[in-house]
Amino acid sequence: MKAQTTQLKTDFLIIGSGAAGLLAASRLAPHGDVIIVNKGTFRDSSTWYAQGGIAGVSSSKDTFESHVQDTLIAGAGLCHEDVVRAIVNRGSEIIQELEEIGTPFDQRDGELHLTKEGGHSSRRIAHAKDATGQAISRALMSQVEPQANIQRLEQHTAIDLITSRRLGKNYQNRCLGAYVLNRDGEVLTIAAQHTVLATGGAGKVYLYTSNPHPASGDGIAMAWRAGCSVMNLEFIQFHPTCLFDREGSNMLLSEALRGEKAQLVDRDGRRFVFDYDQRGELAPRDIVARAIDHEMKKQGVDCMYLDARPIGRKKIEDHFCNTHARLLELGLDITNEPIPIVPAAHYLCGGIKADVHGRTDIAGLYAIGETAGTGLHGANRLASNSLLECLVMADYCATDILKQPIPSDCPVPVWDDSGIVPENERIQIKQNWDEIRATMSHYVGIVRSDERLRRARRRLRLIQEEIASYYWMHPVSQDLLELRNLALMAELIVLSAQQRHESRGLHYSTDYPHTDEHAKDTILRPDDL
Ligand code: FAD
Ligand code: SIN
Repeated sequence: MKAQTTQLKTDFLIIGSGAAGLLAASRLAPHGDVIIVNKGTFRDSSTWYAQGGIAGVSSSKDTFESHVQDTLIAGAGLCHEDVVRAIVNRGSEIIQELEEIGTPFDQRDGELHLTKEGGHSSRRIAHAKDATGQAISRALMSQVEPQANIQRLEQHTAIDLITSRRLGKNYQNRCLGAYVLNRDGEVLTIAAQHTVLATGGAGKVYLYTSNPHPASGDGIAMAWRAGCSVMNLEFIQFHPTCLFDREGSNMLLSEALRGEKAQLVDRDGRRFVFDYDQRGELAPRDIVARAIDHEMKKQGVDCMYLDARPIGRKKIEDHFCNTHARLLELGLDITNEPIPIVPAAHYLCGGIKADVHGRTDIAGLYAIGETAGTGLHGANRLASNSLLECLVMADYCATDILKQPIPSDCPVPVWDDSGIVPENERIQIKQNWDEIRATMSHYVGIVRSDERLRRARRRLRLIQEEIASYYWMHPVSQDLLELRNLALMAELIVLSAQQRHESRGLHYSTDYPHTDEHAKDTILRPDDL
């Protein structure tokens, strides 16, 4: 017997309400009906937690060319230069638009105050104190909320994309919308002319991550199951400075602290990063994170320290007021003492293979923001280029969608959950989740080897098999969906890492410590496996 399912229809379905999804929604709304879904509230996104700021050339002392070159250098030879230029050249325009819609960027002497982060050769990061993401999210929401033809579905989790290949060979493969689990446990069938994945990253694949809960790689897993290629998933950026907390905090200590003179020290107060790179604390993130990891292993300790005292109390209390307040709540005074830190999984440089407009392998399906792999970041993302990428891609994507002809009508298969039985083993979900995250952290972290990757793959295969048998027999729930996606995501990261026989940017293997000048992007296609 087929269960009841609600069917909705829209012109544009946007999955995710971080920076990328919100801007795409507000650009498309004047041209048709939009449904935007997210797993929690609009605060549950990486965008909301972004601290340091958004990169863009806003000073007469800076140039686009310099921002382009810094991005290419950080990307360690794998950036797609055309994409870099297409995104970086829109930086000042996007920052100006954000100001016009109410983002309260910090000002000094009547001009934008620009901060600095690792790998940037100039001050070019616009910021709203140290809570830039919240400020941008609120400004974007102020554009979305008043629009009557945007329907916001909060606490709705997309399960899978609906594609016409389910209908048979006579249909060209096209995305027709998505199945979405609502907060009451009902599955909606949402038909859409165009579907945009703006589902963010996958930090939750690791034990220690700066990412909020929704970052379980859902968009990438859905796109893969629908038939899309994925690119460069081995390049996981570990942020050098997350608060070290045995209870597992995910609090980030912004790179802007180092940009404003904070120093990385060991427990004896020695600045160790200069042993690894002459740029010291402001070397690109891959280098700084690896230096910390190496030093922790060499000294046999659990953490290193960030000493922000060189910034000065007044500036900390002004620019870094939120960080200061949150740490005080935890009993740590950043104006007065070094803060224990560890590197943590922070950003996915690869993603669903897409061009700068977000076009994927499947007609009618776009991927934008962190979930997309466009080649902007190459093998390592330059700090604060991500918010910029989200907004520029959302703009290009909306423009491209509006140029497309209206697709011809096609039947949309409704959700079918006949044959399932109530679940009684929820504990298994938690155990598998913990095992995936531990496996990825131990074997697929900052330093990798062939043997570690082989071990990870063996374990992940078993977990995948267990999940698959469980998934098809039981009703879908948000945690089961996330677990299934997380397991697939972890396996795709390992498969990608196994294909790269060199060390470059964020991928470091003890078996292949050198860079291979001929190495290219890692592309995985569902049909190849
Ligand atoms: P997100 O903002 O992550 O939004 C993803 C959305 O997708 C959410 O609404 C989520 O609910 C939804 N979603 C996911 N799966 C599903 C599903 N199955 N069904 C329905 N909805 C779903 N970058 C910078 O440039 N500058 C910074 O200063 C900066 N600081 C950062 C600080 C932190 C702590 C973190 C974690 C990241 C930071 N980054 C920064 C990176 C940047 O914030 C993110 O890359 C960017 O915000 C991603 O935006 P997005 O729109 O692609 O996705
Ligand atoms: C930070 O503030 O350090 C994060 C910036 C980023 O991830 O781009």
